[in-house]
Amino acid sequence: MTERIASARSCSNIAFIKYWGNRDNALRLPSNGSISMNLRGLETVTTACFSKRFSEDRFILNHVEQSGEALARMSKHIDFIREMAQSRERVSVVSENSFPTGVGIASSASGFAALTVAACSALELGLNERELSRIARLGSGSACRSIPGGFVEWPATDNEHDSFASPFAGPDHWALVDLVAVVSERHKAVGSTGGHALASTSALQSARVADTPRRLMICREAITNKDFLTLANIIEEDTLMMHGVMMTSRPSLIYWNPPTMAVMSHVLELRMSGIPVAFTIDAGPNVHVISTQDYSDMLTQNLRGINGVTDVLRAVPGDPTVAITEHLAFS
Ligand code: PMV
Repeated sequence: MTERIASARSCSNIAFIKYWGNRDNALRLPSNGSISMNLRGLETVTTACFSKRFSEDRFILNHVEQSGEALARMSKHIDFIREMAQSRERVSVVSENSFPTGVGIASSASGFAALTVAACSALELGLNERELSRIARLGSGSACRSIPGGFVEWPATDNEHDSFASPFAGPDHWALVDLVAVVSERHKAVGSTGGHALASTSALQSARVADTPRRLMICREAITNKDFLTLANIIEEDTLMMHGVMMTSRPSLIYWNPPTMAVMSHVLELRMSGIPVAFTIDAGPNVHVISTQDYSDMLTQNLRGINGVTDVLRAVPGDPTVAITEHLAFS
């Protein structure tokens, strides 16, 4: 009896131009293109083991056996991969995040990227980066951006086979830092999958989507030219546009809490005083504070002093998702 096993390590990513809303929810085809930076320091390591001996799929996340929706979502993703490999073997998945759980840091990007690469390696599918990115997208849209490394773009396309992310600058291109100001929070009422489905109920979404090519171009050029001020202005504008859509959806999605806003205004004040710093916020209350690495220590101290900030996590531009041990077969 043979078991096929492989592991993968993946970095999470932070979107500078956000993906919000799908033109096809089932296929996770985005309404608009997005740009992100992979995050070394916020990572997931996943091992997938396929065996004829297993009678059901299992999923252990951060040492806790998963059931219900989390297990079903993992299994559904593995079903795509099993179909490609023409395999009916059940899988046992063990996954661990390098960042603390329960602080509202989404792990779906690094989680589905690592799961995709581990499972495809274990089943020896021999896929290239584009194909892996396309498959990761089916698990979680933003996961497709965690497959390549560095600074990455995922364009909006009509064709599901062309919907994958590609890098346009490597991790060493620009020494940026993402300091995640974790703010005291209760719970996230609506996750991103539910949120994407609500985007079109906001009258602002069509204007936001129509304007995306402009924001993508400004952001891509700012990164290419390492122009921090232009980057700061465009990522904040983009975040505020996405949260404008969220807040005006029906039902309304309001992810911010008072400490979120305290961090935002603090960041704006610091920038006014000449420090290269900007904020961006995903579907949650935590604030990603973007700066250059030489300001890391100073900003971390500074952010920790804000009322309601419970922790500050640090990440720098990260590498592509990699298989750690390829298709070990135990007999
Ligand atoms: O990949 P999802 O379904 O978790 O959606 C990600 C949505 C945002 O984080 C808010 C934006 C983005 O582009 O990452």
